[in-house]
Amino acid sequence: MDKRFYITTPIYYVNSLPHLGHAYTTIVADALARFYRLQGYEVFFLTGTDEHGDKIAKAAEAQGKTPKQFVDEIANTFKETWDKLGINYSYFIRTTSDKHKRVVQHVLQTLFDKGEFYLDEYEGNYCFGCERFLTPKELDEKGLCKDHKAPPVYLKEKNYFFNLEKYRGWLKDYLSKTEVIYPSFYREEVLNLLEEPLPPLCISRPKIRLSWGIELPFDKDYVTYVWFDALLNYLTGIGYPDDPSWQDYWANSHHLIAKDILRPHAVYFPIMLKALGIPMYKKLFVHGYWLMGSLKMSKSLGNIVSPLELSQTFGVDQVRYYLLRDMAFGYDAEFSLPNLINRINADLANDYGNLVNRTLSFLERNFGGTIPPWGELTPEDREFREKVERGIIRYLEEFPRLNFHTALEELWQAIRFANVYIDREAPWTRVKEGNYQRAGTVLRNIISAIKSFALALYPVLPNSSLTLLSALSVFPNTPSVIPSEASTLSFKDLFNWELPASGTKIKRCGPLFPRVDEEKILKEEQKVEVKKEAEVKEEPQYITIEEFRRIDLRVAKVLFAEKVAGADRLLRLEVSCPEKRQIVAGIAEYYEPQELIGKEIIIVANLKPAKIKGLVSEGMLLAAKDADGLAIIIPEKEKEPGAKVG
Ligand code: MSP
Repeated sequence: MDKRFYITTPIYYVNSLPHLGHAYTTIVADALARFYRLQGYEVFFLTGTDEHGDKIAKAAEAQGKTPKQFVDEIANTFKETWDKLGINYSYFIRTTSDKHKRVVQHVLQTLFDKGEFYLDEYEGNYCFGCERFLTPKELDEKGLCKDHKAPPVYLKEKNYFFNLEKYRGWLKDYLSKTEVIYPSFYREEVLNLLEEPLPPLCISRPKIRLSWGIELPFDKDYVTYVWFDALLNYLTGIGYPDDPSWQDYWANSHHLIAKDILRPHAVYFPIMLKALGIPMYKKLFVHGYWLMGSLKMSKSLGNIVSPLELSQTFGVDQVRYYLLRDMAFGYDAEFSLPNLINRINADLANDYGNLVNRTLSFLERNFGGTIPPWGELTPEDREFREKVERGIIRYLEEFPRLNFHTALEELWQAIRFANVYIDREAPWTRVKEGNYQRAGTVLRNIISAIKSFALALYPVLPNSSLTLLSALSVFPNTPSVIPSEASTLSFKDLFNWELPASGTKIKRCGPLFPRVDEEKILKEEQKVEVKKEAEVKEEPQYITIEEFRRIDLRVAKVLFAEKVAGADRLLRLEVSCPEKRQIVAGIAEYYEPQELIGKEIIIVANLKPAKIKGLVSEGMLLAAKDADGLAIIIPEKEKEPGAKVG
């Protein structure tokens, strides 16, 4: 079969429970998979979990579990979450499976035999969040990993390396001549990166430091680097190297990721493939971040939204619609509850839901729920059909380009126009006049359009589309929510105005998208917030060692101090850490500025800079407070400014 579509999500680390960011990528993949199935493609949709590496071993240890116990539990949680969100994947891959281990060892041995790896000693800044050594450019001005906002650890180790530089010229050429990376600004980003020599990729970890990984087949003292292992899942999933059909899927492989993992996917993976003699994947689709406030939603920042809680409150289709409608693919988007509610109420309940409800209940009341025969079509009826068809065509064009927000907007213009059309043609007035034929024609035109909307929207709103299509008896045997049964659906019926046929009895279906009481939800949300704060006060809250390590405490020497004009409690300090920084501290009631000059203090060096009384404060000093007053914390012996405290 030549019409194949292979789509993958990243395999998610099991050190975090699924959050809305993971759900977004997975929902996009699911929507694309459904879209292509309805276009008649044979689709293979792969998702799964990334279960090896330092992070996972540490997370298991923190919970007092063996890595195996731990990964089994979280992999199940991912599966359950995807099931509840209606994700219809073809295969769930786990990197700890024997099948995957065999592929990784096969690839390692093949590349070793080809002479692609060499043993070397390496030292550098290792970020445990990224699971790799960072280049100086990947550190911010404070020496922290730009992505994890955490200090890297300096490591010196003997390891196996892969000479990526050898393939840089090929990759640069390939990427500049093709459009594999989409949107194109991510391709530009990668091409920029390829302007400079590529450092060798360290593909191993010594077993004495980390044993939770796949052993190198040619050196039992090492396990393989988590990214080397993880990227190969895309090959394991389709049966590489034994199942001959893997190549047909590979020729149509599409990989969805967010920008955080662009480098491994756009540099390491293509080079691994090239060295193996496997053709490049077809497309890499890169999206932006869902933000909370201005920060990336992530476990390490503790600002995550649970996709399950959200879908329990609002409905699976509603959450899917919001995520696809409110993020322009490629760019960041800020998660907002009021925006989600507004999308549900305005787009789903009002525009779409109302159109369906009023049309079907009118049919029920006046035509006994049976599709009437056509009367003659007027120019208005034809204009309506044209607008609906145009909306659907634009939707079908934008969807595979991943412009979901534009695709949905185009379709909604048609849905809104259907509401205008029904108001203008006023079938209720025709019925009062006794002109059932005209009323029936208008109604039928709208019902056929509704059938097309439901069909087109199936990739985004699978549950309500199936309910509606089943109520319209377009697919009489379609139960409401079993995805495999939806295999009878096809986009071929999108422009068929004869469906549903005359005489078809329409079943009742309740409101598809109930309105959300915004005030009530937002109030409850506030209550939850207040409750959460109260809980924090009552119970001891433990943090893990990783969380503690993320706080960068440093010794700083006070070079200068003065009162802040117009603020009785504030002092402005200039400190050396060893770079010069300004700190604004609320200690003026307890210390005179000159007492502090020359003293060493301890500061939180990676606190997000804040403006206090118009002055930027780049850190916070530590002090102890009791009923007698406040005392700043100073090192017991003099230490170099910038020395780490831990
Ligand atoms: N295990 C690696 C991926 C290996 S793939 C061969 C990994 N896992 S992860 O759990 O950190 O998942 C990262 C992916 O989760 C992102 O690329 C993106 O798909 C999704 N997202 C995580 N947080 C996100 C947001 N805040 N916003 C959007 N997507 C997010 O990296």
